[in-house]
Amino acid sequence: MKGVILHGGYGTRLRPLTHTGPKQLIPVANKPISQYVLEDLREAGVEEIAIILGDLYPEKVKEYYGNGSDFGVKITYIPQGEPKGIAQAVGLAKDFVGDDSFVVYLGDNILKGGINRFVEKFNNNSYDSMILLTEVKEPQRFGVAEFDENGKLKRLVEKPKVPPSNYALVGIYFFTPVIFEMIAKLKPSWRGEYEITDAIQMLLEKKFEVGYDFVTGWWKDTGTPEDILEANRLVLDEIKPEVKGTVKEDSCIQGRVFVDEGSVVEKGALVRGPCVIGKNSVIESGVYIGPYTSIGNNVTIKKGEIEGCVIMDDCLIDVNERIVDSLIGPHSQILTNSHTKPKGRRFVLGERSRVEL
Ligand code: TTP
Repeated sequence: MKGVILHGGYGTRLRPLTHTGPKQLIPVANKPISQYVLEDLREAGVEEIAIILGDLYPEKVKEYYGNGSDFGVKITYIPQGEPKGIAQAVGLAKDFVGDDSFVVYLGDNILKGGINRFVEKFNNNSYDSMILLTEVKEPQRFGVAEFDENGKLKRLVEKPKVPPSNYALVGIYFFTPVIFEMIAKLKPSWRGEYEITDAIQMLLEKKFEVGYDFVTGWWKDTGTPEDILEANRLVLDEIKPEVKGTVKEDSCIQGRVFVDEGSVVEKGALVRGPCVIGKNSVIESGVYIGPYTSIGNNVTIKKGEIEGCVIMDDCLIDVNERIVDSLIGPHSQILTNSHTKPKGRRFVLGERSRVEL
């Protein structure tokens, strides 16, 4: 079985972070979201992987993953450019897939427990396709499954205004090459995209065998800042505590905290897990780092209280404030205004930034 990771799209809901790179490279617990995807494929024995690239800094993806050898897989890059829909992206993998079966994994999805058992199920059945489902609160936001009275999959609808069930499609799909015949016949949907749900719906209408299963642990589609913070909390809930860096005497580490090489937690600092601190970062005296915080590499926290945040690489925070539930992009600085007058806040914000005071 081969793997196809979708790494394109515009990620408009994650601007301004996606002005400088694809959303799938945004870190959760200090690891890009798409790396969880790649590692999940590898753990399930899928080592030949195509990454479909969009036109938001695709070179950053190639630079990070290279030919895949550092990650124990073999990567082929396929450019999609402008996002015309998941089905169109999948269609580009036709030559890469050849006669094999394959699994498509959206590069911004994280699935606890992984896909291993689903790969086995697909391999042990004669399905033409298999989808994964999970119960959700807002089915209108997702592709949704409808079943007949015998529990057989009847229909799939993309972002329905009136959902036929609460079971949404997870962004992981198993296919045989017959899907390419369906994709070739697709027309753009009302939102102008080639929908993978429409392609699977065609399989159903043509009486191909479409299996399904339910994911049991959590699944997270990380489309919005709130989703990223939630994924960060879910992943941090499972981290193993370890101190590779230096935790000075008279500092306080509580709960599960991972401190990577070269980082220092100075005396008088309080770090309360679950929390990760990357490489070569400094948590200075008097700082409080609260639960569900990920601090990247080369970050300095000189002053302040930080909780439930993702602070990316090379940031500097030096402010006597409590910062909560925030996503702070790389090379950002949050500083104390050194002028006492005039009183006020100073900002240098990129397009579509959001600040809550
Ligand atoms: P979406 O989250 O639906 O789209 P998006 O990434 O453009 O985000 P937004 O709605 O905020 O603008 O995409 C789901 C996943 O599929 C995501 O990992 C991006 C990927 N994708 C592609 O690779 N190519 C495409 O043409 C589309 C539509 C999505």
